[in-house]
Order: sequence, then structure tokens, then C-alpha cells
Amino acid sequence: MQKTIKRKHFAPVAVIILTAVLSACVGGQLGKNNSGQYRNGMVVSANADASLVGLNILKKGGNAVDAAVAVQFALAVVYPNAGNLGGGGFMVYRSASGEINALDFREKAPGLASRDMYLDSAGNPIKEKSLDGHLAAGVPGSVAGMVAAHQKYGKLKWEELVQPSVLLARNGFKITARTAKELNREKERFVKFNPLGTALLKDGLWFEGDVLVQNELANTLEQIRDKGNAGFYEGPVADSLVAEMKRGGGIMSAADLKNYKAVWRKPVVGNYKGYKIITMPPTSSGGIALLQLLKSVEPFPLKRWGLNADSTVQVMVEAERRVYADRATHLGDPDFYKVPQQQLVDAAYNKSRMSSFNWAKASLSSDIKAGLLKTPEHEETTHFSIVDRDGNAVSLTTTLNGSYGSAVLVKGAGFLLNNEMDDFSVKPGAPNMYGLLGGEANAIVPEKRMLSSMTPTIIEQDGKLFMVVGTPGGSTIMTSVFQTILNVIEFDKNMQAAVTAKRFHHQWMPDAVYVEEGALDSAATLELTRKGYHIVPRGAIGRVDAILKTKWGYYQGGADPRGDDKALGW
Ligand code: DON
Repeated sequence: MQKTIKRKHFAPVAVIILTAVLSACVGGQLGKNNSGQYRNGMVVSANADASLVGLNILKKGGNAVDAAVAVQFALAVVYPNAGNLGGGGFMVYRSASGEINALDFREKAPGLASRDMYLDSAGNPIKEKSLDGHLAAGVPGSVAGMVAAHQKYGKLKWEELVQPSVLLARNGFKITARTAKELNREKERFVKFNPLGTALLKDGLWFEGDVLVQNELANTLEQIRDKGNAGFYEGPVADSLVAEMKRGGGIMSAADLKNYKAVWRKPVVGNYKGYKIITMPPTSSGGIALLQLLKSVEPFPLKRWGLNADSTVQVMVEAERRVYADRATHLGDPDFYKVPQQQLVDAAYNKSRMSSFNWAKASLSSDIKAGLLKTPEHEETTHFSIVDRDGNAVSLTTTLNGSYGSAVLVKGAGFLLNNEMDDFSVKPGAPNMYGLLGGEANAIVPEKRMLSSMTPTIIEQDGKLFMVVGTPGGSTIMTSVFQTILNVIEFDKNMQAAVTAKRFHHQWMPDAVYVEEGALDSAATLELTRKGYHIVPRGAIGRVDAILKTKWGYYQGGADPRGDDKALGW
């Protein structure tokens, strides 16, 4: 009887399996499963139009790096808030076979920059000077970064990767409600810094669905499409940038542009409960901080306590307090300052840092200093995550720093300049726009890169791709990535739920636990308050865009509902 049943079911099962295999072979008709997961590749970015550009590149046979280049340029058009040609960023890469690499295309201080350039005669910071206008901009790195990434790993032709963005800029695209609101909010700044006008300014208000055409930007993208680096760092675009600097009293020179180079660096790699964490080394502090945070909480039973339970939050906050204190002292551009990288991520070091914390009572940040190490050893940004059909992965975070950067659009070239100079420590002990402190390690020096918090990260499990993750959010970047990872590894959330989950954040100074509404229940809030934690409600923290590879080989997207973010797969 049993045999008959088996035989009866054999034929349909065999047909289903055969169909699945055949479809996968002939172009992935069954690329999507019933849970909205995809087998052939995925792009998760801050904007649906940009995700679509990336997806089309993947479908054309481009790899994850090709798609990343195309998405970076597309974001520069459709997401001017943070997408950029005039900013910089970081990329972490893992090939399907396990090769890993990290690309630093962070902005640099111009050659004429100086340590005290943002201080008044009394030695106090002039806040707006590092945030608004021409002096706030570092030498842009994004174009050189994309050229370097493509030269090393690209498969499709460069022109094919830039062209979709030329079309988006030339023909225009429909702006989202959020972009309309932001453009209206920024109007005053745009008027102030762009007396000659810009495509981002309009008589009257912007509305959702308005078509934004950016002809000057399209011309610049054509130069980049046709000439690569020389189309941006030399020739008419560079001339426009230098003229813009003259007009607005900036200091960036033609030589600064010509000399800019993106740098390949060795990723920092750590281990959390058997998962291999591959993340960004300095010039970002993000990777080191992430590894420190994970190592600090690893000995504690977070899973048993549960997500955002008071004990879980307490341990995470105490770890954050200590790690951010380290950041303020020990992190800076490794080309200018010896970062004690190995010591900082050492498990025993982080364990000993945590030994000073007391269950009964919150530590005081004023009592926590950066760890004493042995002698030195040898909110705007956007993140996207991409995997291709072969399993190559890119995690890329890119920024203008503040929303719309310095608000200066280069006249004649149509792109926004960053205000990344504010990420330097303009004076020891003076907080930057994210409240982060710094000192000597992150002081301004000509051609130095300012310290970042960006944390593009890729995780492996048992030698295989597991997760691609990152976020914007200034100082909250590391803690958002930290929480997203724990949400999956400790709290068994799927990728979307891990991204959606409410977040909290502590950064040593100021001594407060910032919480999104609903992150902590009233019991946890009460208990933490009783112990002396200063709980401060705040708006959205981070916009995480991430991809998880399931054990069945499908990609699960997590697009942050805090923005217009979109996961697209095939
Ligand atoms: O590099 C950094 O750490 C900052 N410039 C990032 C700024 C940022 O994430 C703003 N986003 N909301």
C-alpha cells in the first residue's frame, strides 16, 4: 500500500523538481519563491529608481560591482539628499569564492586646509563654517571610487553603467513625497549658496510626482561616462568646480582634484559566535567599533534575555559607551595616525573594558575614558547592499555628510558638494554635527581623510555568504548595524523584521540612551531609568538596507521602512 502511494506521488514531484532545475538554468524563471525571496540577485537601496537601475544591470549579466557602480551614479541623480558625485564613501566586497576587499573613497582635506580653519580669533569653533558653503567641502572621492571598483572587478563596459544615470538626469524622473518635502525644506540654503540658480530650485513648492530634470548633472555624467576619472577630476567639470570655489571663497584647487586617489584597504575581520564579520577599516571607525561592540556583548546571554529587554539594552549601552570613548581618542586616518587596530578589536581587551560595569547602576560617561592602550602599534548618507547571481556581494555606504551636503551645487556641473570637513575634529573636545568628539587622531591636516562612522559590512557563516548590511545615520551607524546583526543572529528575525525593528543608541557623550518610539516597553524603560540611564526619545535612527542569504540559497531583502528604500530581486 505504502509503495503504491509513493509511486503515485513520484511523477508530480519529479516534474516539479525538474521544472525548477530547468527554469533556474534557462534564466531564473523561478528566481522568486513564495516568500518574496530571490535566487538570482538583489539590490536594496534608498530609492526605487536606483534599485531598478541596479537590478537591470544584474539582469544584463553585470556582477555586483557593476550594479554598485550603476546604483551609486543613479543615487547621485534620484537621491540628491545623499547620493552623490561630490561626496565619498566606502565599499566592502566579497566575491562568491570568498575573496574580500575594501575600497576607501573618502573625501580628503584640500591642500590648503589647516588645523584651525574653522575657529574664530578666540579659538572657538564657528559651527556653520564646517557645515555650510564652499569651505565645508572635502575633495570628492566617489567618482574615483567607482572607477577603481570597476577597474578591479567590473564585467560590463563602464559606459553601460553610467548611461542609465545620464538618462535619468537628462529626461528627469518623478520625485517622491519625501524628496519634495526635503527640497522645499532646503530652499533657503540652496538660494543662499547658489546665487546663479540650480535645478533643485523651483518657483513655488515641489510636489510628489514632479519631474526633476538636471541637465548640468547629465552633462557631467556624460563626461564621466566618456572619460572616467579625467571626465571629473580634469577638464570642464574640474574647471567648473574650481570656478565655484573661487566664487564662493572655497579652497579646493585643480591640483587637489587631480591628485585624488581611492585606496584599496584590507577589511577588518572579526568573529562573533562563529560568524565571520568582514567590515570597513579606518578611515572609517565603523568596522572597528562594530567588532568591539560585538566582542563586548558576546559573553552575555542576549538571546535568553530577549530583544530590547532591560538587561539586553543595559549591556549593549555599556558596550556602546566604552566603544565610543575609544573612538574619540584612538581613531583617525591611518595614513596620518597610527590606529591601534589589533588591540582595539582584541576579545580580551573588550572583555576587560566591560568588567567595570555595574548591574545595579548605570556607568557615568564622565567616568569612562578611552581605554589605556599599550604603545601605539604598527544623519546624510546612504547605504546599499547588492548580491549577484554568482553570489558576489557589495556593501556600500556613501555620503555628502549632512542632508544635501554643503548645499553648494557646482555651477555648470550640477552636482552637490559635501560638507564632510565637519567630520574632522575641528577642535579637541568640540562635538561635530553628530555630537561626536575627537582629538589629535582626527585633527585637520592637508590631504588627510576625516574620520567616518560608515560601516558597510558583509557576514559569512561556515565560509558562505550570510548577510550584507549597512546604514546611514552619522554616529548612529555602528549601533544600527550592531542591532540589525543581533536581531538576526540572536533574536531570530528575518531580514525585513530585523531592519524594521525599533532601535536605540548611546554614544558615550552625550550620556543618554536615544530611543525610537516603541523601542523599549514601559517595564524596560522604568528599570533602566531606575538604574540611572537617561532615556531620551528621538525620531528615526538609521535606514538599514540589507540582504540575508537563507539556507535554501535565496536572498531575503530588508529595506528600511524609515525611508523610501526598496529591495528588488530576480
Ligand atoms: O562619515 C560619516 O560618518 C558621516 N559623514 C556620515 C553621515 C551620515 O550618515 C548622515 N546620515 N544620516
